[in-house]
Amino acid sequence: MRDSGFPLKVLRLVLCQAAASCGQANLTSMLAPQADRVMALGEWEERWQEDRIGFHQHHVHKMLESHIDKVLAGRTGVRFFFPLCGKAVDMKWLADMGHSVVGVEICEKAIKQFFEENNMTYSEEPVPAIPGAKVYKGSERNISLYQCDLYSFSSSIAGQFGAIWDRGSLVAINPRDREKYAALIISLMTKDCRYLLDTMLYNPELYQGPPFFVPDEQLSSLFGNSCDIKLLHSVGALTDRQRGWGLDDLTENIHLIIPKSI
Ligand SMILES: C[S@@+](CC[C@H](N)C(=O)[O-])C[C@H]1O[C@@H](n2cnc3c(N)ncnc32)[C@H](O)[C@@H]1O
Ligand SMILES: *[C@@H]1O[C@H](CO)[C@@H](O)[C@H](O)[C@H]1NC(C)=O
Ligand SMILES: *[C@@H]1O[C@H](CO)[C@@H](O)[C@H](O)[C@H]1NC(C)=O
Ligand SMILES: *[C@@H]1O[C@H](CO)[C@@H](O)[C@H](O)[C@H]1NC(C)=O
Repeated sequence: MRDSGFPLKVLRLVLCQAAASCGQANLTSMLAPQADRVMALGEWEERWQEDRIGFHQHHVHKMLESHIDKVLAGRTGVRFFFPLCGKAVDMKWLADMGHSVVGVEICEKAIKQFFEENNMTYSEEPVPAIPGAKVYKGSERNISLYQCDLYSFSSSIAGQFGAIWDRGSLVAINPRDREKYAALIISLMTKDCRYLLDTMLYNPELYQGPPFFVPDEQLSSLFGNSCDIKLLHSVGALTDRQRGWGLDDLTENIHLIIPKSI
């Protein structure tokens, strides 16, 4: 009965739509505890000013390192996009390998610290298309960091990207903005883009975030229409940091999201 797979899928889809069941009501209830949480841009700025940046890691992210071959897929000189980049050292790691990096970050202090801590000089210029925004360009490496609200950024500013590393980004934006965020990310993907996404699974009744809880079921609704989504890695990730948030369990999921070839 191998070849009945496709019709069955279609049947299930039709039934799900008709009954509005198959997890949809469930997804809403899963998301309910954090649905109205809002972190204002000023709160992120405060965190940087007060050095409350526990999310920052001094080493290259292990999941990026482990899965870089699947992201590159044999390509060299790939253009990487880092949404909500902070001062992730991953950007330098990729640029040192000959890739180019474009990041977006609201906080100027984060951007300046990135270049300074990595001993890189940089230039800074306004971005005419985004009032108030600036772009900081590394002199030694191909790294351009846009200081602006992510939602002011678009493919008309710096084109599309062959790869995206999303760590602390989808999980950091306000839950109510996820559809808008997904639409932006999809618009930034080239046809051969490989989007590596890091999410956290935990009980959202126990901690209000960020990082926010983004269940796999929601990824299908955000990206599944235009992309194939593959779970690459699922690993227990509870440390004292998250125990301090009140969590007793935490799973880190790494997904590879690729535009469907039509
Ligand atoms: C959780 S941190 C993650 C930073 C980085 N990806 C990392 O893994 O270290 C989220 C970052 O996004 C920035 N940010 C939050 N909302 C933003 C927005 N709407 N536009 C641009 N940057 C934003 C914050 O200032 C913060 O540095
Ligand atoms: C969601 O699914 C869980 C188990 O999979 C079930 O216990 C729960 O009742 C469901 N909730 C809703 C609102 O359907
Ligand atoms: C930057 O330079 C300082 C001083 O020479 C050095 O201690 C540090 O390791 C350098 N940092 C990087 C990322 O190369
Ligand atoms: C930076 O990358 C762009 C393509 O994104 C390329 O045209 C340019 O030559 C690169 N510059 C350096 C200094 O590598």
